Amino acid sequence: MNSASRGRLISFEGLDGAGKTTQMQLLEQWLQEQGTAYVRTREPGGTSLGAEIRQLLLNRPELSIIPLAEAFLFQADRAQHFAELVIPAMQAGKLVITDRSYDASIAFQGVARGVGPELIEQLSMLATHGLKPDLTILLDLDPSQVHQRTDVTADVSGLRQERTRFDAEAEEFHQKVQEGFRMLARKYPERIKVVDASRTVEEIHREIVGLVSRLLKS
Ligand code: TYD
Repeated sequence: MNSASRGRLISFEGLDGAGKTTQMQLLEQWLQEQGTAYVRTREPGGTSLGAEIRQLLLNRPELSIIPLAEAFLFQADRAQHFAELVIPAMQAGKLVITDRSYDASIAFQGVARGVGPELIEQLSMLATHGLKPDLTILLDLDPSQVHQRTDVTADVSGLRQERTRFDAEAEEFHQKVQEGFRMLARKYPERIKVVDASRTVEEIHREIVGLVSRLLKS
């Protein structure tokens, strides 16, 4: 995408159960109060094709998807998502907020599944046409502290969240995901902001508002 685009892309990342959903909802409320228009989306599942791919990836353990196939499925979802939704929205000058994107594949498939972070980053680059988020909010929480999804849990709006194939992974897997995200935060300190998710919901929200305000003014 060329530099003439005026839109902004913000991604939320972190371990499952670190409070992403709650913080995205609070940010949405804040943006609405400010009168800032935005598009909220997610990976996997931000498009019609993505919704189908999401079902395969999260809810079909009997398929025994191998790590490389899993990696390609996430990138297929991402390629469709950027072409159909993210890039057009940004070219129209919109603010896009996505629940996961570019970095999730590097931490989950690249590091935790062992496919290799460099290879996965190249695939993410290909899928996004080289576009990285302008700001990535990394909700950082020790895997032993994450809020475990049992069968189904409800977030603050009462939305049900299903327990996925990834939630079922052992703590060692989530430790590796965490290492992957921290490695990325060291590699991209300007873009990826590490937010300590062990604090209160309100404290975390205030920090996120500060980061987003700064981006929107830049
Ligand atoms: P979801 O229910 O959206 O989880 P969360 O709300 O915790 O993000 O399921 C998405 C799962 O897919 C999550 O466990 C992270 C994983 N994932 C990857 O492994 N690679 C990716 O590239 C993306 C986008 C997500």
